[in-house]
Amino acid sequence: MQVYLNGRFSSRDDAAISINDRGFLFGDGIYEVIRIINGRLFRLDAHMRRMDRGLGVLEIPFTGQQRAELPAIMGKLIADNRLEKGEGTIYLQITRGAALPRTHAYPPDKTPPTVLVMASPFVPVKEILEKGGHAIMVPDIRWSRCDLKTINLLPNVMAAHEEKKRNAGGVLMVRDGFITEGYKNNVFAVIDGVLWTYPDSPYILSGITRDVVFEIAEQEGIAVRLCPVGEKQIFKADEVMLTGTITDIQPVVSIDGHRIGAGRPGPVTKRLQQGLRHRMDTE
Ligand code: PDD
Repeated sequence: MQVYLNGRFSSRDDAAISINDRGFLFGDGIYEVIRIINGRLFRLDAHMRRMDRGLGVLEIPFTGQQRAELPAIMGKLIADNRLEKGEGTIYLQITRGAALPRTHAYPPDKTPPTVLVMASPFVPVKEILEKGGHAIMVPDIRWSRCDLKTINLLPNVMAAHEEKKRNAGGVLMVRDGFITEGYKNNVFAVIDGVLWTYPDSPYILSGITRDVVFEIAEQEGIAVRLCPVGEKQIFKADEVMLTGTITDIQPVVSIDGHRIGAGRPGPVTKRLQQGLRHRMDTE
């Protein structure tokens, strides 16, 4: 596999970062995961806008020519890794770079950021998309800037470990009695025909797939309510689903052993799945 690191294309095994990198030492950086479909990057502009916003808030200087080159770098990696056909993902990470001495405060602005871009094949798990998953709830133990896609993912990693240990298919995180999102996806519930999801806030990441779901809902005449769903209320939802770049729209058919709706993917979920697939295949 060919990757891009700090201006250089190389094989993955030859790419290495400094032990002084602030991403490594402090988790001081952001990332994006972008879907590749037949060589095209789905909703690239939206991912780039979210990345630029994160870099701006964190004051990581990554602009000018280096920033402008990113789409061309992704294009080259797609070609070099033979991903012009089928599905894949781009992983993009930008950290505040390597700086000495190790000190918490931001280093001088001239410190070059570390830029990593990788492209890999990706195969969606068909079975869970068709049959749905048995999800669990875990406390949302994250910080109060979940709107930034930072590489600080330990609570998410712990949630994923819990999912694996309990042989579950999906995790719903709970903060102050309400479902916020999953560890790598957003959560939607269908209640009396209305699609509910947590509003834009510092407690969730505003997913690009979530925005696509809003678009499809509008087109299909499905009403949307930006309102948090309670941890007990969700058991009575007719449908629940998870949405994300590497999740697509994954039905949730039970939560902590409580059956959701009829215990199988519902009609709204299926319409949204079709709408997403259509957009991914045609845009
Ligand atoms: N995760 N919420 C969280 C916490 C996420 O990490 C993600 C994405 C989403 C969905 O966002 P989007 O639709 O833009 O992918 C929501 C990526 C894919 C990951 O960590 O691998």
